[in-house]
Amino acid sequence: MKVLILPDTATAVSRVADILAQTLDAGRGCTMGLATGGTMVPLYAEIVARHRAGQLSLAQVTTFNLDEYVGLAPDHPGSYHRYMAEVLFDHTDIRPGHAHLPRGDAPDPRAEAMAYEARIAREGGIDLQVLGLGQNGHIAFNEPTSSLGSRTRIKTLTDDTRRANRPYFDREEDMPRYAITMGIATILEARAIVLLATGASKADAVAAMVEGPVSALCPASALQLHPKATIVLDAKAASALRLTNYYHHVHPDGQESDYS
Ligand code: PGA
Repeated sequence: MKVLILPDTATAVSRVADILAQTLDAGRGCTMGLATGGTMVPLYAEIVARHRAGQLSLAQVTTFNLDEYVGLAPDHPGSYHRYMAEVLFDHTDIRPGHAHLPRGDAPDPRAEAMAYEARIAREGGIDLQVLGLGQNGHIAFNEPTSSLGSRTRIKTLTDDTRRANRPYFDREEDMPRYAITMGIATILEARAIVLLATGASKADAVAAMVEGPVSALCPASALQLHPKATIVLDAKAASALRLTNYYHHVHPDGQESDYS
C-alpha cells in the first residue's frame, strides 16, 4: 500500500486528480471505476475545472460507478445517477453511453447486479478504481462483515450508513435500505486503486484499513491484499496512524518515492 499524506483536503484532492489525469493520459480508452459521497465532490469539481481549462478530457474513458440505491430511478434526486450527472458527467465531454451505474429501479435487482458485474468484465475490467471510505470502514456499500470474496450484489445498509447519507434525502422514509454494490473481490480486480479519505471523522477507519488486520470487520483492510493500492489522506484523516513518520519518509509531501 502506498500511503500519501497531504497537509489538507485541497492538496489531497489535487493529488488524486493528478493520479486520475495520469491514467487518462496514459491509455486511450481506459476504464475507470468511480465513487460517490461527500469526499468526492471536491475531487470531481477539480476534474471539471481541469477539463474546462483544457487540461484533461473524458472523451476516451468508460466509467463504472461502485453502487446505486435499490428502488431509485436515475432521475431521483437522491440517486447516484443524479449525483454523477450533477457533479461530473454533465460538465465534461464523457460520451453518452460510456458512463455506467447499476440501475436501482431494475425490476430484478439481483439480475441487474450480476449483469453489471458481467458488463465490467466485458469492458476488459477496470484500469483505475477510485474509492472513498466509510466511517465504519466500508468501501462502496460493502458494510462490515461483507465477504472479502464478494461480487456485485445487493447489500443491506447499516444504520450508520443510512444516518451518514440521510442529508441527501428529504424524508427519513425516503432513505433506501438496500444498495446494489460492487463486491470486494470485484474492487480488488481493478488494475490500480486510489482511495481518498479526508477529515478527522475518517481517522479510525483509516488506521484500521492501513495498519489493522485484514478483516471483514473493516472491509477496506482488504486493500492490503492489492498490489497497487494508493491511499491519499489529509493530515486529519491520517491522525490515528502509528507509522506516520515512515509514510512521510517514503513519500515526502505525498509524492512518489524513488522506486514507486
Ligand atoms: P463520504 O462517504 O465521502 O460521504 O464520507 C464515503 C463512503 O461512505 O464511502
